[in-house]
Amino acid sequence: MRIRVPGDKSITQRALLLGGLADGRSRIRRPLTGADPRSTAGAVAGLGVEISDFGPDTSELIIAGRGQDGLRAPTGVLDLGNSGTGSRLLLGVLAGQRFDATLTGDASLRSRPMRRVTDPLGAMGARFRWEGEEGRLPLTVLGGALKSVDLDLAVASAQVKSALLLAGVASRVPVLLTEPGPSRDHTERMLESVGARVITHVRGPGRRVEFRDPPERLSPLDLTVPGDPSSAAFFLLAALLGVCPEIEVEGVGLNPTRTGVVDLFRRMGGRIEAEVTSEEGGEVTGTLGATRSTLRGIDVVHDDVVRAIDELPAVAVAAARAQGVTRITGAGELRVKETDRIRAMVVNLRAVGVSVEELDDGMEIEGTDRPLRGRVDAFHDHRIAMVFGVLGAQPGNEIEVVGRDAVDVSFPTFWGQLEEVRTG
Ligand code: S3P
Repeated sequence: MRIRVPGDKSITQRALLLGGLADGRSRIRRPLTGADPRSTAGAVAGLGVEISDFGPDTSELIIAGRGQDGLRAPTGVLDLGNSGTGSRLLLGVLAGQRFDATLTGDASLRSRPMRRVTDPLGAMGARFRWEGEEGRLPLTVLGGALKSVDLDLAVASAQVKSALLLAGVASRVPVLLTEPGPSRDHTERMLESVGARVITHVRGPGRRVEFRDPPERLSPLDLTVPGDPSSAAFFLLAALLGVCPEIEVEGVGLNPTRTGVVDLFRRMGGRIEAEVTSEEGGEVTGTLGATRSTLRGIDVVHDDVVRAIDELPAVAVAAARAQGVTRITGAGELRVKETDRIRAMVVNLRAVGVSVEELDDGMEIEGTDRPLRGRVDAFHDHRIAMVFGVLGAQPGNEIEVVGRDAVDVSFPTFWGQLEEVRTG
């Protein structure tokens, strides 16, 4: 069966922010219309940028960019909803403005750490005021001038890296950094596509990123957003588990910093094909295919984690249906996602009858082929809802997912598409 998945969340969010800073009208085709990018769009509009109607059926967005110096002071608090990426990247954009702006989010976002972004932005001269608990939203970014930096980042996080690069773009100051692992590089690629020069090279297990010559102006974007490989992963998993005999996901992004899950599924014995079909805006797009497979347990270690960070719940579910034990370590970052994903996976897998041991930085899962039955909680996390949706669709299993609506942030059509795939 051939399917498409919604547009990439990371790329859509970056397009909204860079589109707002560009000089002129950007055109973004096939954006993700989920709640996260719509929250980001609301915040960008709150800074005076005109954005065309952005509803669930929008197939093209027009953003009337105001240029790097054109953003306006918001009249109210900017609410980023559930969007960790939107809020953290926006902190970078706001850090060097001539005005103050206050950001908040939903209960999940207000519990997530922000110091990982404010500390390095602070090294550029940015100033902040915590409006509630220190280190969490709500937070006011105080306007002021920024200076250039050369930083060693403590975490391999594309959100942190991108916040710094966007601060450099908005304030026209050089940003040099070294990241400890190869986090997704969509910001670097998109910046290149609008006329900025970002030089990157491998350094040890991570990368050196050099943005030395911030451009005076950014050209508008004209791009088609590829399908989100993180969303595709749920359907690859569905085929591997035999929810359907085989699947092909077309028009999906194949940026190598995002395809770690394909490598992990293959290591488990999963039959997966990848074919590149086009390239646009520096991003490669293609088809991912998967066929029902017999899976075996593997060791997932720290070096595997960055390129598959959002797909580890899917790997954990594959592990629950594999022969033998899968040990995931070096994945402590999962504890600070939309929910604590280590805890959520452990609690939910146990609730349906899988043996799992919780580790500080991961989990150990014993595969089983017994029917899995029970009730699980999405913990307000889209990816937790979706992986258990897929596991529940495997023939013989009966799983009730409480909080199914969580999928709206990244994949509003998920449940309907899963049903189509299940019934062929
Ligand atoms: C994202 C980066 C990752 C990822 C998130 C999206 C991005 O977070 O988990 O879903 O678009 O930059 P970290 O940068 O915190 O690892």
